[in-house]
Amino acid sequence: MVNPSEVDAVVLVGGLGTRLRPLTLSAPKPMLPTAGLPFLTHLLSCIADVGIEHVVLGTSFKAEVFESEFGDGSRLGLQIDYVVEGEPLGTGGGIANVASKLRHDTAVVFNGDVLSGCDLHELLDLHTAKGADVTMHLVRVGDPRAFGCVPTDSDGMVTAFLEKTQDPPTDQINAGCYVFKRSVIDKIPRGRALSVEREVFPGLLSDGRRVCGYVDATYWRDMGTPEDFVRGSADLVRGIAPSPALNGHRGESLVHDSASVAPGSLLIGGTVIGRGAEISAGARLDGAVIFDGVRVEAGAVIERSIIGAGARIGPRALIRDGVIGDGADIGARCQLLRGARVWPGVTLPDGGIRFSTDV
Ligand code: GDD
Ligand code: MG
Repeated sequence: MVNPSEVDAVVLVGGLGTRLRPLTLSAPKPMLPTAGLPFLTHLLSCIADVGIEHVVLGTSFKAEVFESEFGDGSRLGLQIDYVVEGEPLGTGGGIANVASKLRHDTAVVFNGDVLSGCDLHELLDLHTAKGADVTMHLVRVGDPRAFGCVPTDSDGMVTAFLEKTQDPPTDQINAGCYVFKRSVIDKIPRGRALSVEREVFPGLLSDGRRVCGYVDATYWRDMGTPEDFVRGSADLVRGIAPSPALNGHRGESLVHDSASVAPGSLLIGGTVIGRGAEISAGARLDGAVIFDGVRVEAGAVIERSIIGAGARIGPRALIRDGVIGDGADIGARCQLLRGARVWPGVTLPDGGIRFSTDV
């Protein structure tokens, strides 16, 4: 058995978060508010909860934001080191780049955008029991094409790693959490960009190294798209997804103490309301993620959508499956549906965009 206090955690948070634009123009994806906290807080609280003490964050895009939020980590009971890539080094380069900060012989590497109920004790135990070089957390999904497809043999050993293939041989995918022997990290080439999924893992397999799969069926979601971000946030609010940082909260909504919610408004479906936001009478919010300082006016309807900081949603506007950038102003009765994205600061006049013929 490995003692978690003798394991380093590495969290990769250097991506651009392109699929969540425009929200990720002002904040890195792992820092977007999710169920009222920066997403990374949920992951770090799971890491602390299992007894890991030392975390290295591999940052690049908007690197400084992480340190100003988490500092030395003591608030979460962690010791956090930061490593910055001037140019993004990719997932493999990002792992190699933190090697000098590692303190132990075993490291667990996490993609910084995954919400997961994985039992890290079991993952570490399997890694030790199998004498593996790398042990990967694997999950089954409906559509494996957007992920790394990872077939295993009858012994649970990984036989191939096929990143984002159109023709996946199995529905078993890389869940974005790996236990590495320190010596394997030390051998990853330094100083150039490389992908752990496309280069390092296939290379380990062709060298005959022991790569083991740990498959489970707990909660799992990659938060990288608006649809998944909204679902993941709502699942946290409703207590469906695990997060020690929420101290057992469970309900239809989660409202920051400083927000004001008028009587006669309805907040359901795991809606979260950020700091200082104002929700007027008759508004109906279902699965809405409302960032800080947003104003939602009377009778507006927001379903499965993210509203960026400081935006205003005018009276009787309808936002369904949309993303509204920071500070945007959506006029009365506008209708924004099915993946609409409004860029920060944009103003839409009253009745300016409709999906029906009347105003
Ligand atoms: N430090 C650093 N440097 N981090 C990076 C870089 C980089 O250049 N590029 C990406 N990252 C971080 C991102 O911030 C994110 O937390 C993580 O690496 C994964 O990147 P994504 O862009 O979210 O990858 P993905 O979701 O398309 O695919 C990955 O995750 C899937 C599971 O969620 C792959 O690992 C797939 O194989 C996997 O199935
Ligand atoms: Mg991702």
